[in-house]
Amino acid sequence: MLDNNILNVLNLRKYFATREGIVKAVDGVNFSIRYGETLALVGESGSGKTTTGHVIMGFYTPDEGKLIYKGRYDLSIPIKKRPLELKKDIQIVFQDPGTSLNSKRMVKDIISLPLMIHRVVDKKRVYERVSELLEYVGLSDEYMFKYPHELGGGEKQLVAISRALASNPSFIILDESTSALDVSSQAKVLNTLIKIQKELGLTYLLITHDLGVVRNISHRVMIMYLGKVYEEALTEEFFRSPMHPYTQMLLSSIPTLSSEDEKIKPAGVESIGEIPSAVKPPSGCRFHTRCPFAKSICSEKEPPDIKVGDNHIVRCWLYE
Ligand SMILES: Nc1ncnc2c1ncn2[C@@H]1O[C@H](COP(=O)(O)OP(=O)(O)OP(=O)(O)O)[C@@H](O)[C@H]1O
Ligand SMILES: [Mg+2]
Repeated sequence: MLDNNILNVLNLRKYFATREGIVKAVDGVNFSIRYGETLALVGESGSGKTTTGHVIMGFYTPDEGKLIYKGRYDLSIPIKKRPLELKKDIQIVFQDPGTSLNSKRMVKDIISLPLMIHRVVDKKRVYERVSELLEYVGLSDEYMFKYPHELGGGEKQLVAISRALASNPSFIILDESTSALDVSSQAKVLNTLIKIQKELGLTYLLITHDLGVVRNISHRVMIMYLGKVYEEALTEEFFRSPMHPYTQMLLSSIPTLSSEDEKIKPAGVESIGEIPSAVKPPSGCRFHTRCPFAKSICSEKEPPDIKVGDNHIVRCWLYE
């Protein structure tokens, strides 16, 4: 199939057996990611964001569904069985650079490891390439000889990003990659991510609960709640006219920085109730137990996809 999508995901399901019962972490999700875009995947804790990312990485195999990458690779195959060129092409940057970087190794060795494993460059060129990779993220050669503990949080995350770039990937999953950082490091890392995306034509799946980050770097937004996607829209439209009450609730709970922000904040959707258990998710629209606008149909039937604009889909009975 020819399209502009680097990834097409169809009816993805991933369940986990736990002592409490089966957790439907991802429960019938459809989405696509376009070449060169940043798609933000947003939702409260436990909505299935990381699980989705980990299935794409091949850390988990899906229970059901199709994931087609670049029109030719099947991502339902676990990472160990994937062809080398595919393993190189999809990378992930985790939330905590403190634990994801080996504390006993110097930066040059941390970054050269994937270069050697994937045989990206000739042995003689390895450190030259490490230096180039550090330059991409704005770190000088001096960083080659530092250990992770000598670096600040933002610098560590920049090293993790340059390590992710080592295999020349096209697609990077950023799972809360800036959440643990202070505001100024966060801005620095986000700007670096935007810069390298432009330079290298990268595609990002940005997993976050931070709508401020979403507004700064993503092109499109997808909202997940208890294993399902309830809304997707281009970023500008998303902030201008959020449709799903869950989206409105998320947006009304973010702190606003300016009076302009305050104007676009949806009024009146307060968070009510707790997030229900993922083992026994509510019937129909899973948000209905917390939704101030719920009608009887909301608890009876799953809402259909409703197209409310170009590139804007909402799954909510209110718009039927
Ligand atoms: N390996 C696992 N075994 C059992 N349950 C799991 C496993 N991984 C995730 N879950 C459960 O699946 C659901 C979705 O988890 P997931 O980590 O994908 O959420 P998330 O949206 O990334 O949340 P957070 O914002 O807290 O990172 C949760 O109920 C979680 O407890
Ligand atoms: Mg997560």
